[in-house]
Amino acid sequence: MRSPSGNSGPRRGAELRELGIIENGAVLCVGGKITSVGSTKDALRDPWVKKHRKKIREIDCAGKVVLPGFVDSHTHPAFVSPRLTDFEKRIAGASYEEIAKAGGGIRSSIDAVRRAGKSELAEKVLSALNEFASHGTTTVEAKSGYGLSLEAELKSLEAIKAASALWPGTVLPTFLGAHVVPPEFQRNPEQYVSLICEEMIPLVAKRKLAKFVDVFCDKGAFNEEDSLRILNAARKNGLQVRAHISQLTRTSLERILKLNPLSLDHLDHVDEADIQLLTKSKTVATLVPGANYFLGLRDYPPARKLIDAGVAVALATDYNPGSSPTASMPFVLSLACTHMKMTPAEAIAAATINGAWALGIEKSKGSLEPGKDADLAIFDVKDYRELAYWVASNRCDSVIAAGFVAAPR
Ligand code: NIG
Ligand code: FE
Repeated sequence: MRSPSGNSGPRRGAELRELGIIENGAVLCVGGKITSVGSTKDALRDPWVKKHRKKIREIDCAGKVVLPGFVDSHTHPAFVSPRLTDFEKRIAGASYEEIAKAGGGIRSSIDAVRRAGKSELAEKVLSALNEFASHGTTTVEAKSGYGLSLEAELKSLEAIKAASALWPGTVLPTFLGAHVVPPEFQRNPEQYVSLICEEMIPLVAKRKLAKFVDVFCDKGAFNEEDSLRILNAARKNGLQVRAHISQLTRTSLERILKLNPLSLDHLDHVDEADIQLLTKSKTVATLVPGANYFLGLRDYPPARKLIDAGVAVALATDYNPGSSPTASMPFVLSLACTHMKMTPAEAIAAATINGAWALGIEKSKGSLEPGKDADLAIFDVKDYRELAYWVASNRCDSVIAAGFVAAPR
């Protein structure tokens, strides 16, 4: 995944297809970092390797595919239970929005999170992180957003922190207090927005519990004005911003892009003007087709249009109990290829290096290059295209995170 042109910036257009495959390759890692990447022949001739051969742990990947560990740049793991009643309601014909209006959806996950102890929640997050790793993911962005009170949001972020400490991969926490307006503020949503801006964000920043602030900017959640107010408060408190936008209905991206979000996510309803603006920006468009799949939608985000226009596209699972209960990046690659007409190579780059750009960690994650973290995923397939080809089949052999072998199967 080394940049073919040396361009710095997320992969765009034809560059998204350049995987820089090394056949019969070897990756040398020392102290949790990658020190060299090249052919096995050259690695074996390396004087340092010759001298230290006995101390080096060799992992034989013959006949397998080795990738940078997936960077899943959009997940919601801080919840307690699956949402099975909503699942059945949707099967009977109700839409995501209808379910939300009837008290289901995000709001129906709040009570259990508010009641849960921090360690119970941390256990849920940790079991999700282990599931991510078992499918080849070594870096995960993890949002709060099912507590929606000062106390329960702080607890969610602390649970994410506690779980991360027990997981060998890397977790980037995001505060999503602006997921929906909780029931007690239903009549006075502005008051909840004030609580987010004036109390929650400053405290989250002060306690260093999140790197990012996210907002669900859409019908039934937060309008554009309130979303901008929240993201401005985030920036004022030194936090970076991202947003769920244009998932259910279109919001023009013009104003939100002025805040330089690292990523805007979902983007099902972008129009030509939005695409032009994204092309000119550094913001990554993170597409989460697991949500379209699970909600049974016919349409998927316009990946082809975005990529061909030169927008930097990433892929993520959107792991959550309401719209995308999957931790599997390979499944997302499959959806990207079958439903969005991305090529397997584009999907892999979107799930690794562009995911890293979407989180601002491109200097340490997302490609196998000297100096980067030793985060690798080994797959029991002969050709990288098989990753997107075998549907609902986990071919991940093991992952290495910061030089440690994790989640071996
Ligand atoms: O990304 N769109 C908003 N949030 C989630 C859904 C969360 C939920 O339903 O629990 C999403 O799809
Ligand atoms: Fe989401």
